[in-house]
This record gives sequence, structure tokens and C-alpha cells, in this order.
Amino acid sequence: MSKVSMTQSPVLTIDGPSGAGKGSIAQLVAKALGWSLLDSGALYRLTALSAKRQNVSLDDEQALAKVAEGLVVEFLPSEFGEPVKVLLNGDDVTNEIRTEVAGNDASKIAPLAGVRKALLQRQRDFSTETGLVADGRDMGTVVFPQAEYKVFMTASAEERAERRYNQLKTKGEDVSIAALLKEIEERDARDMGRKNAPLKAASDAEVIDTTRFSIEEVLAQVMSLIH
Ligand code: DC
Repeated sequence: MSKVSMTQSPVLTIDGPSGAGKGSIAQLVAKALGWSLLDSGALYRLTALSAKRQNVSLDDEQALAKVAEGLVVEFLPSEFGEPVKVLLNGDDVTNEIRTEVAGNDASKIAPLAGVRKALLQRQRDFSTETGLVADGRDMGTVVFPQAEYKVFMTASAEERAERRYNQLKTKGEDVSIAALLKEIEERDARDMGRKNAPLKAASDAEVIDTTRFSIEEVLAQVMSLIH
């Protein structure tokens, strides 16, 4: 059966491990095509942050599911290179959700079925008639299994640690590559090893290893799938 129906709006899913460059590519493709953007990882980061602010424990599945259901968030568009501005209950948390701590907290609550269920419809609601670029871990496998275009973007753990190191250095943060590499490997193991919606390429996804490619080259590869 064809995945494309006349009524279905186009969706491009971009899945892959942390630091593979999904976010930057998703932002560029969405801009080039005039499609909407879903940064699904932000929803997991926001759920963890909101839980902490309400003193909800990061292993209380039921309470976390309620937090996820009740999230009041806004994503405000930004220029490329700038992160999308994110508001939680009207409070600007753009920088707070991008820290290593927020990423690790998100990865810890992400295996919980109740949390994933609470966020499922919210993610699907990002789909618009014009089109959607959705990036995350299970966009092509669980959230948008019927998507017309699917990419699985990866890169070696060493390369991802180095990219992250350079990003943090530009921001003036002092971290060691070895510590970042360890965190990345731990996060990969958690995201790939969990029972619910583990990180993996959809069987019909185009796998792109970005290790030796520039952002322009990866963008060209993704755009060529769509044209
Ligand atoms: O993409 P990110 O680094 O912002 O995601 C943070 C964490 O959220 C990631 O380690 C696992 C989880 N996540 C997920 O389980 N499913 C998604 N679709 C997106 C993120």
C-alpha cells in the first residue's frame, strides 16, 4: 500500500541520536520548504523541567504523565542559528532546556510509557496542511509511521562529542570532551535500549551518516529526497 494519500499532508521525520545535527537540519529544511517544525525532544525536556519546578520526582510515572498532559508551551520562530524561543507557562526557558542536565533529565523520563502516551497526540497536532518537519527519536517509527519522507541521521559518538564541545566552548562553557563523550554514550544506550519507542531507524528511512559531511552537504542530501 502506498504511504501517500491525496488527503495526507507531507511529513518529513528526522530521527537519530543526540548531537547528530537533526535540529539544525530540521530548522533549515522547514525554512526552505515553508513547513512547520516539531522539535519533539523539547517536549521531553519541558516535561522534565516542569516536573522539577513542581517538585515532582523524575521516576513518578503517573505524576509525570499529568505534567506532560498539562504543559502550557509556546514555540516562537527564530532566525537560523538562533534556537527556537520556548516559553513554559509564559516563562522563557529557551536556554534552561538546552543544558546537559535538561537533556539527561529528558532522557531519564522518556522511557516511561505514561509520559510518551501523554505527548503522542500533542506531537501529531503539529502536523499542518502545508507540511511538517519533525525531529526526535521515534518520529518515523511511532509518531508519524505513515510519513512520506523519513531520514535517520547519525554520526560517530566521538564526532558528536566534538561538535557539542565546540558549541559549548563558543558559549564560554568549560567542559571536557571525555566527559561529553561519556554522557553521549550513556544517553545513546538509554535511548536505544529502552522498551518503549527505542531509538532506531524506521525500516523505510534513508540513513545518513553525517560524520564527515558539512551541514550544507547533509542539507542537500535531505532536500534531494523531497524534490
Ligand atoms: O533531541 P533531544 O536531545 O532534545 O532529546 C532529549 C531526550 O528526549 C532524548 O535523550 C530522548 C528523549 N526523546 C525521546 O525519547 N523521543 C523523542 N522523540 C525525542 C526526544
